[in-house]
Amino acid sequence: MSLLTTLTRNWLTRSLEPFAFKNEYDNHLEFEREDKLGLYVHIPFCRQLCSFCPYCKQLYDEAVCNEYLDHLIREIHLVGSRLTQKKQATSLYFGGGTPALAAARIGEIISALQQYFIITEGIGVELHPDNVNEETLNILRSAGVSKISIGVQSFSDKFLDLLGRKDFEMKQLEAALQKAPFDTVSMDFIFALPNQTFEDVKSDIETAFAIGANHVAIYPFIDFTFTGSNVKAMAKREKRKLLDDITLYCRSKGYSRDSIWTFSNVPEAKYSSMTRENFLGFGCSATTLLRNQFKINTFSAAEYQRRIAGNNLPTSLTLRFTKRQRMIYYLFWTAYSTQVDAEAFERFFGEKLESCYGFELWMAKRLGFITEEKGVFRMTLKGAFYYHYYENFYTLSYIDKMWSVMRTHAFPEEIRL
Ligand SMILES: C[S@@+](CC[C@H](N)C(=O)[O-])C[C@H]1O[C@@H](n2cnc3c(N)ncnc32)[C@H](O)[C@@H]1O
Ligand code: SF4
Repeated sequence: MSLLTTLTRNWLTRSLEPFAFKNEYDNHLEFEREDKLGLYVHIPFCRQLCSFCPYCKQLYDEAVCNEYLDHLIREIHLVGSRLTQKKQATSLYFGGGTPALAAARIGEIISALQQYFIITEGIGVELHPDNVNEETLNILRSAGVSKISIGVQSFSDKFLDLLGRKDFEMKQLEAALQKAPFDTVSMDFIFALPNQTFEDVKSDIETAFAIGANHVAIYPFIDFTFTGSNVKAMAKREKRKLLDDITLYCRSKGYSRDSIWTFSNVPEAKYSSMTRENFLGFGCSATTLLRNQFKINTFSAAEYQRRIAGNNLPTSLTLRFTKRQRMIYYLFWTAYSTQVDAEAFERFFGEKLESCYGFELWMAKRLGFITEEKGVFRMTLKGAFYYHYYENFYTLSYIDKMWSVMRTHAFPEEIRL
């Protein structure tokens, strides 16, 4: 791991302790008293496996998928049955893989969760463009899904080819979206691909809004070490210019930014499974974040099912946070929404943000990374670039390392980051 990430971690957590993820689990997750709890469900099946994609996924097979979903529903009951009364949950997101391939059973999974949770801010599902047809969209709507996210990646054949993705029929996508409205229709794009220009990205954003999206997520391409992708990441300076041009363009059009990489043309449209104080994750590779711990489920679908068949949770690794580690985790993911509210921090930790990180906030203001208004710290354009740059760094130093082990070891002994 790079010296820079280690030093930053030591400084911010005020400790030399690394993040130690241990091979341990308990079957009684204490989440009853947590506020702002999000829910996440992972469905790892895809019709085609993209070479650049780091997520836990496998080729779709109907029988294998159904068996997996039976276990997923058992996991929901294992976790939820400790509640003595229904609990409020902010949101529910289905990610993958391609969860829309299991559209016919999404309603059953939602019903299992609704036995324990009251979901207040909507339900989101990820789709591949191939899944966007009237029939699938209607099934999802009838199941209670209010937000969809479509992995377009690019509307240009040149970049789809580069990513090894099939071309798709745009007219069909548009026609299906018109007939089945959702509160949020988000489209994912990848930017910072070799030779990609601002005009290319701008055209993707405008086409998305023109054919029925009201929200776009523009992710910088990340070259994970274990994916075996041939696509090379763009140089830093070029990437910064592109990110700044995209942000300024979206700002000039009045699009609202609800997280570091997402923009919408109507402020109500939101799609983010990242920025929640606590969350419960179900399915292989799903993570759970609670007040004192972070846990990650096994990436092996077979081992996942074996654990659940024995009435045990499929946790592979658990990190027990020190208070400062939890604070850093909180700040990192809250900053992803481009702002941090000092009052919300104090409500969560019982300590003032300024007493804990006064020097860092002062420094960030001096460097022009953030501005402050009535206790709300907002990221500037410069701050957003450096956050994005550090996030990229974090992804390659932490997530890449963690996932490359998890893909090959169902239950590693320990990972120290
Ligand atoms: C689970 S996939 C979305 C749904 C569906 N499986 C699909 O591909 O259309 C999540 C998103 O992650 C993004 N993504 C995947 N690999 C990436 C990489 N190496 N760098 C940046 N973004 C990536 C893509 O934009 C993708 O749409
Ligand atoms: S990008 Fe989507 S379709 Fe491709 S492998 Fe990843 S999850 Fe599957």
